[in-house]
Amino acid sequence: MKRPFLFPFIVRTGIMQKTGLLFEPLRLGTMAIRVPVIQAALCGYSDAPMRKIARKFGCGFALCEVMLDQFVVAVSKRKSRLYFAESDEHPIGAQLMGSEPVQFVRAAQRLADEGFDLIDLNFACPVKKVLGRHRGGYLMSDPKSALDIVSAVRQNLPDAMPLTLKLRKGFDDSPESRTRFFAILDGAIDLGICGVTVHGRTVRQRYEGESDWDFIRTVKEHLLSKNRPDMAVIGSGDLFTAEVCVQRLAESGVNGLALARGVIGNPWLFREVSALLQQCPKPEPPTLVEQSEVLTEHFRLSAELYGERRAAPTMRAFGVKYSLLHPCSEQVRQDFVAVKTATDWNNVLEKWYRREKWESLSITKIVLESGGL
Ligand SMILES: Cc1cc2nc3c(=O)[nH]c(=O)nc-3n(C[C@H](O)[C@H](O)[C@H](O)COP(=O)(O)O)c2cc1C
Repeated sequence: MKRPFLFPFIVRTGIMQKTGLLFEPLRLGTMAIRVPVIQAALCGYSDAPMRKIARKFGCGFALCEVMLDQFVVAVSKRKSRLYFAESDEHPIGAQLMGSEPVQFVRAAQRLADEGFDLIDLNFACPVKKVLGRHRGGYLMSDPKSALDIVSAVRQNLPDAMPLTLKLRKGFDDSPESRTRFFAILDGAIDLGICGVTVHGRTVRQRYEGESDWDFIRTVKEHLLSKNRPDMAVIGSGDLFTAEVCVQRLAESGVNGLALARGVIGNPWLFREVSALLQQCPKPEPPTLVEQSEVLTEHFRLSAELYGERRAAPTMRAFGVKYSLLHPCSEQVRQDFVAVKTATDWNNVLEKWYRREKWESLSITKIVLESGGL
């Protein structure tokens, strides 16, 4: 096993004494995100309702789901409110995917005009159809095309607009892939990006196996050795508990963490990580009453954005994830799976989240009292 990367931890001891925080704010261009834990881009999930709920629990910066460059250019003003950010969501980033520098530029300019605070370029998506069109993760295998895109976008955006990349560890596990990773990273730094999110799996791996945090640590070390401590590295992969998040920050030396699957249906993870980073005790798990309030609010935000009919199927996937925090998770999950309408949604809440005896009890207590249901 490799030795933990202790340098940032030592530096951060000083920060801790000055700010009461265990870690420095995450700096992306001129933005400083106080608690360095952000909402990752999540296709099919990180829409305005999810982002707003995340913010409520202490998330200081969120990314929209990835958008195709051509789509961004073509989407009408009326429909754009479904995909772009709302006025109460700053700071907020947009993420773009495509294959052509010219299209990327047009899309990035529109996103800047629409008021986004940061543009992130996705060179990481592992979906087969995306790779086939030379988009997303395909670009990990083609540094020249990737850097042509970075160069065109950087030159055509206002200087003050932060530009970042989302990369995977490589296209595959070969030494050539590793070389290409650093060619893209170093080239993009020279072209003016201010940060990179690294998911420690290869494109080929998709979501199999573990995220390679040794590799993510190596990326940070590489940038420090190049005398670029200003370059933000955001780590991604397998961030499911607050304790693991703090450990990953300490051991890898990254500047921030992107929470992804760990916060689908569990926005409380933001609150928990935030507390630990501020040297406070980890909050109790949410009571069923608290869960019910968040489920209700999440549905309300979704219905407000999409209309009630579309909100129900959208929220079904969230309900399934929220159910994991319920002591009767399997039964609750089954009921969420069957949700087709707003009434179905409310019935699930009525049946599983409003029982008198559960009110004000924490989940942990319920599980203990019920013999671990
Ligand atoms: C359903 C789903 C959708 C995702 N959509 C995006 C996306 O739009 N853009 C992106 O850069 N990454 C996307 N990712 C990758 C995540 O941001 C993250 O890097 C990855 O899930 C690893 O983190 P985790 O293991 O903590 O979930 C997605 C992942 C999942 C599971």
